[in-house]
Amino acid sequence: MPRKLAAGNWKMNGSTAALAELTALEQAMATDAPDVVICPPFPYLTLATGTATKSVAIGAQDCHPATSGAHTGDVSADMLADLGIGHVIVGHSERRTDHDESDATIAAKTKAAWSAGLIAILCIGESAAERDAGQTLDVITRQLANSVPDGATPDTLVIAYEPIWAIGTGAVATIDQIAEVHAAIRAQMAQRFGDTGADIALLYGGSVKAGNAADIFAVKDVDGALVGGASLKASDFAPIVDALKHS
Ligand code: PGA
Repeated sequence: MPRKLAAGNWKMNGSTAALAELTALEQAMATDAPDVVICPPFPYLTLATGTATKSVAIGAQDCHPATSGAHTGDVSADMLADLGIGHVIVGHSERRTDHDESDATIAAKTKAAWSAGLIAILCIGESAAERDAGQTLDVITRQLANSVPDGATPDTLVIAYEPIWAIGTGAVATIDQIAEVHAAIRAQMAQRFGDTGADIALLYGGSVKAGNAADIFAVKDVDGALVGGASLKASDFAPIVDALKHS
C-alpha cells in the first residue's frame, strides 16, 4: 500500500511570523495523522525545522542538480540534507515555466535529491491547451518517462499530478479527470518498476481545499495532496490532513 502524504507548498509566501502556523498545525492534528510535510521558502527552512519538531516534517521547494559549485542563488540537495530536510519538491510547473526547467533537468534534480538521501516530490501536469487538445495522457506519460530516473522506489519518490489549469485557480479537476490520470500514472510506474512502482504515493494538486479534500481522497489511486494556498494557514490545512486520515 502506498503511504498517505499531505504536503504543503508555501511557494514564495511566508515570514518568520508565519512559522507560528507550523505550531498551530501540529496542535490541530490528531496524534495518528498521516505523514505531513510543509515546504516553506529556503530562508525559513532552518527556523521551520526548529519550530516543527514532532509530526510536521519540513521540506524544500527545489534543489540544484549539482552538489556544490558556482551556481549563484541556488541550493544543493546536500545542503538541504545537512539541515535535516527530508523532502524536496522538484519539477513544479511554476519552476518549469519561470525557470525553463526541462524534464531532463528535473530528472537530474531528482537524482541529486536521492544522492543526498532526500525523498523527491516530483510534479507533472498538463496545461489547459494540452487538455483541450486531448493530449493529457500523452503529456503525463512523456513527463514521467523523461523525468523519473531509473531506480525509483516508494521510499525515494512521490509523484504529484498537478494540472496547471487547476493550480491557484479554484478550478479543481473533476473526480473523473483525477481518476483517469492517477490510474495512468499508477500503471506506468507498475509497468516500469513492478510491484514496488505500484506503491509509489500519488498526490493530487490543484486548488485542494478543506471543502473538496474528502471527495478527492476518495478517488482510487489518490494517496494524498500537494496543497498550495490552503497550506498557508493551519486552520485551512488541518482539515485536509484530517480528511486524508479518514480516507
Ligand atoms: P494550489 O497550489 O493548492 O494553490 O492550487 C497547488 C500547487 O501548486 O502545489
